[in-house]
Amino acid sequence: MPADPPIRFLLDGEVIEARDLAATTTVLDYLRDTLGRRGTKEGCAEGDCGACTVVLGSLDDNDTIRYRAINSCIRFVPTIDGHELITVESLQDGGALHPVQQAMVDEHASQCGFCTPGFVMSLFALYLNQATADAAQVVDSLAGNLCRCTGYRPIIAAGCRMSGYPSPARWSRDDAHSPARVAALKSLRRPSALSQSAFTAPHTVEALARILEEKPDALILAGGTDVGLWVTKQLRTLPPIVYIGAVPELQQVRVTNDAITIGAAVTLTDAWQVIVAHFPRLADLARRFASPPVCNSGTLGGNVANASPVGDSMPALIALGARVELRRGAQSRTLPLEDFYLAYQKKDLQPGEFVTAVAIPLTATPHHIGCYKVSKRFDQDIAAVCGAFVVELAGEQVRDARIAFGGMAATPARARHAEAALIGQPWTPQTIRHAATRLATDFNPLSDLRAGSDYRLSIAMNLLQRYYLDQTAPSTRLQDLAPVT
Ligand SMILES: Cc1cc2nc3c(=O)[nH]c(=O)nc-3n(C[C@H](O)[C@H](O)[C@H](O)COP(=O)(O)OP(=O)(O)OC[C@H]3O[C@@H](n4cnc5c(N)ncnc54)[C@H](O)[C@@H]3O)c2cc1C
Ligand code: FES
Ligand code: FES
Repeated sequence: MPADPPIRFLLDGEVIEARDLAATTTVLDYLRDTLGRRGTKEGCAEGDCGACTVVLGSLDDNDTIRYRAINSCIRFVPTIDGHELITVESLQDGGALHPVQQAMVDEHASQCGFCTPGFVMSLFALYLNQATADAAQVVDSLAGNLCRCTGYRPIIAAGCRMSGYPSPARWSRDDAHSPARVAALKSLRRPSALSQSAFTAPHTVEALARILEEKPDALILAGGTDVGLWVTKQLRTLPPIVYIGAVPELQQVRVTNDAITIGAAVTLTDAWQVIVAHFPRLADLARRFASPPVCNSGTLGGNVANASPVGDSMPALIALGARVELRRGAQSRTLPLEDFYLAYQKKDLQPGEFVTAVAIPLTATPHHIGCYKVSKRFDQDIAAVCGAFVVELAGEQVRDARIAFGGMAATPARARHAEAALIGQPWTPQTIRHAATRLATDFNPLSDLRAGSDYRLSIAMNLLQRYYLDQTAPSTRLQDLAPVT
């Protein structure tokens, strides 16, 4: 059998050719075990701690390089083919520290140092993308980095200070976007698909559809932020992988008067950006969805396709009336997102069929959406319950209502009884309280380590009241409502 073609990526100006690798070799393992770059650390191996953070430079269609922090512990090496990889070692320039590193030293932002390379790389991505950053932006950029000993205050101070140092010769913002770097990345572009025995990365939707029709048992890989853990935590052996991240068509976001259509390979970072621009009330959910490195790899399509009952995007998407676009061979179809979920982890997806996009309808009068994630931690946590609400009024009466929950059933699901109890009724605290009681007919949630069944139901009922309060305050006061049990 002929040898697989090597995976090629840029590292410190050199083209690295990675050969004879298992398709599921992580970037972290490759760095540490093969390249001997041990500055990048392994903490959790599941995207949670940020010790393994590296930065990936990717050339977009306009020949501009985008730099983003990712978790190397759950990213497979073949998916960085054609990209530039930057590790903590890349920042060194003789004896001189990069401003990000110098700021960490000057602010005493490291003790044992295990987490430090990860923090440096998250801050480095921020440094490249923003001329200055305030404390809130620094905090958000570090949502995926844990430190067990220093305490976050000096690290945040370093993030706020790093832009004040003189520009370095190596890895300044200008250097990052230099024509030489663009040319080097361009030279790595493949004219056709990377095709290995266990990993294929087609370039067109047609080729993707054909491959999946021929090999319906192949595993579709998008950002790998779920799939990566099947390897690093569950130690599963995966079937041959078909990667969708090299299909430009699936990386498109289209906005028309009628809909936002988000391709299946659009990262969560880009997807949330456009969703929040249209629905600013979802900013909080977007902020609390995983961490920047996870959202820089993970996709909205993968979140929807993974069909987790506690996936965060689905309640909001369902409440907004989103549809999922599917393709199998030459056939395409679309479904309301709620109909995509048949039972626990069971989807209306035929063998060889895949998600091409998620389409969110836009209306002339924007929806008043409310969406609330309830979890134990603010950042990086899995929801106990996530509820999303869209109620449309005609005068003082409810004309339409769409309510969807995650964490309340085996799939993300609409609350049909509660919706029916709202539609046609006056928009009053009494109506809301009655509708909230109907949630007990809609759902019989399970008890697990995140929350008990009664607690989940109680949260759901009170989130509906919270939505009402959000929409009607200050004319409604908290005391006009009462806990529903
Ligand atoms: C640390 C951490 C924090 C996280 N936090 C959150 C969170 O706050 N909220 C949340 O909802 N999720 C969270 N996740 C889960 C995960 O990031 C999301 O579900 C993400 O959207 C998955 O997308 P992906 O592109 O990485 O999917 P992948 O891992 O590539 O794939 C996931 C599944 O979907 C299938 N699939 C992917 N694309 C397609 C397609 N186009 N057609 C058909 N099937 C497809 C794959 O075969 C696989 O079964 C977190 C994960 C980690 C590691
Ligand atoms: S090792 Fe913890 S996020 Fe990668
Ligand atoms: S310095 Fe020790 S874990 Fe952060």
